[in-house]
Amino acid sequence: MNIYSLMSRIFAGIALVILLYGFIIPSVGFNGTLERIKDNKVEDIPSYVYPLWNFYQDGRYASINTQKEARSNLKKMIEISEEIGVPSMPVWNFSLEAPNYPKEAFPYGLPVYIHFDGLSGEVHEMNTINHYVGMAPMERGGIYESTLAPYALVALGMLFMIFLTYNNKFVNRLMVIPVLLPFIFLGIYAYWLYWFGHNLHEGAITIKPFTPVILGDGKVAQFTTHAYPVIGFWALLAISVLSLIAWWLKSKSLKILPPKKATMLQHSIFVATLLLGIGTVVSVLKTDIEVDTLSKISTLIDSTKVKIPVTVEPSKPTKEEIEAITKEREDERKEQELKIKALEKRAGSAGKFKVSSMYKSNCAPCHGASGEGSVGSKLIGLNKDELLAKLLEYKANEEEMHMAVFEYLSDEDLENLAEEIGEFSNQ
Ligand code: HEC
Repeated sequence: MNIYSLMSRIFAGIALVILLYGFIIPSVGFNGTLERIKDNKVEDIPSYVYPLWNFYQDGRYASINTQKEARSNLKKMIEISEEIGVPSMPVWNFSLEAPNYPKEAFPYGLPVYIHFDGLSGEVHEMNTINHYVGMAPMERGGIYESTLAPYALVALGMLFMIFLTYNNKFVNRLMVIPVLLPFIFLGIYAYWLYWFGHNLHEGAITIKPFTPVILGDGKVAQFTTHAYPVIGFWALLAISVLSLIAWWLKSKSLKILPPKKATMLQHSIFVATLLLGIGTVVSVLKTDIEVDTLSKISTLIDSTKVKIPVTVEPSKPTKEEIEAITKEREDERKEQELKIKALEKRAGSAGKFKVSSMYKSNCAPCHGASGEGSVGSKLIGLNKDELLAKLLEYKANEEEMHMAVFEYLSDEDLENLAEEIGEFSNQ
């Protein structure tokens, strides 16, 4: 072995270690865990997943509302139903700033981290906002890529092993894949941002199709957005540069010393790599089949299809149907109430004076925390009767802007709101 060939292997070896540590191990190890939690099959989670997640989570972003002792303790996080992210290295960070997320409670804005194999951070909260502007939930982005990520990462690891084992021109050229890795990520990321901005439903706030910023600061409705690379991206860049150097050194060494016939040792390492790789892929596949990843993906895709309104003949609903619908409404209302509670807990009181949770969660996003107006008009100064008349009129006309929230409010709620807002000018 000459010096070039040795150096080439050292560089490729370091790249493989970064790949294993930052991406392959956490991604393969954690595969299927979130699905199992969602399906209430916590007992199916293998025991090694707990220390794995805890280890990677240490020092990562955690919502300030999450109890300190739960932050890098997966068992606790599951117990208290906190939001759990994937443990692989986060590659890109996307965050929002808005009046209802005050700096004291959200020193990092509202951040979401994008990983090869999923998301972490305030995904749920971000989805609430996305819903407002008619955008699909974040999980929809990169849905195929994140599902395939563990397989692709294992394949990439095997490629490195083969590069390390053989002296072969063809294998050398395959190094173009790790070299392009950061750019592949960016391409996929940009595509999905475009997709999100161009597959809008009718939200509470109607916005024009747009592409969210890939890098830097931007604005969507009343929110300021920030998008920046984080540690995982620098790791990908390091893998890219190391691979490029390793490739170049190996080519140089092959020019000096044409490759000899591969030895038995080389073939043995290759076979061992192959067995290990195939074993890993099979276990990932088994997990995916067990948690039924495919049907989960198709459900998510169906639920985010942009609906085209259809007119159907109204038929008389049966008693059972009415009961089912009433129950569904009731469930929706309860869910909404829970969301409001969560929002309240998180956002604190950002306005000039205290407002009811009904106002804060339904009206404040558009009319401002104290009725000062933002997307919606200023409400301070209107009197109770004017307000109530307007609200009832909106409800009767199914006014577009307000339907998304009025759906959950009764006439009595509207009356209470009118009374409350009518008092804003006195506070
Ligand atoms: C999605 C954003 C949005 C939400 C949510 C929203 N509004 Fe509005 N609201 C608007 C906009 C925009 C207007 C101005 C409409 C216009 O001028 O036609 C408006 C107008 C109004 C008006 C009429 C003001 C006037 O000067 O005549 C009232 C009253 C009102 N909203 C009350 C509410 C209440 C109460 C809620 C919460 C239950 C609410 N809105 C939630 C966007 C919103």
